[in-house]
Amino acid sequence: PRILLLNGPNLNMLGAREPKHYGSLSLSAIEANLQALAEKCGVNLESFQANSEEKLINKIHDSFQQVDFIIINPAAYTHTSVALRDALLAVAIPFIEVHLSNIHKREPFRHHSYFSDVAEGVICGLGAKGYEYAFDFAVQYLAKNNK
Ligand code: DQA
Repeated sequence: PRILLLNGPNLNMLGAREPKHYGSLSLSAIEANLQALAEKCGVNLESFQANSEEKLINKIHDSFQQVDFIIINPAAYTHTSVALRDALLAVAIPFIEVHLSNIHKREPFRHHSYFSDVAEGVICGLGAKGYEYAFDFAVQYLAKNNK
């Protein structure tokens, strides 16, 4: 099984960035944690972060028929990007949308997501643990689908 962990803009600043919303773990700590889980489960995990929409879209295109499941935190693009949504639909790779913070508890402009209605599931407000729960689900989902 091949899983891609995708993180959007400003998530490279995790740890330092607004810890009240996003916690104190760095992105590299989150990625290392998931990598350790992946090794335990025999999953091939790739992690990628970009601040630009273009790089994220290209990464999704490159995943076509190469990746079985995507765990994505689109960050601010959650609320703006029809293009990223369309990229995920184009490659038809099932995905989970993850947010560290509970976007529904925050400013109204964060309440709408361009991804939630086409995601397998959405996790928000559970901090960095959300990525682990998403990973756990993805592994079970792929086992069920013989991947
Ligand atoms: C976020 C929530 C978004 O609204 C915000 O723009 C982010 C991070 C989260 O993980 O809580 O950058 O996706």
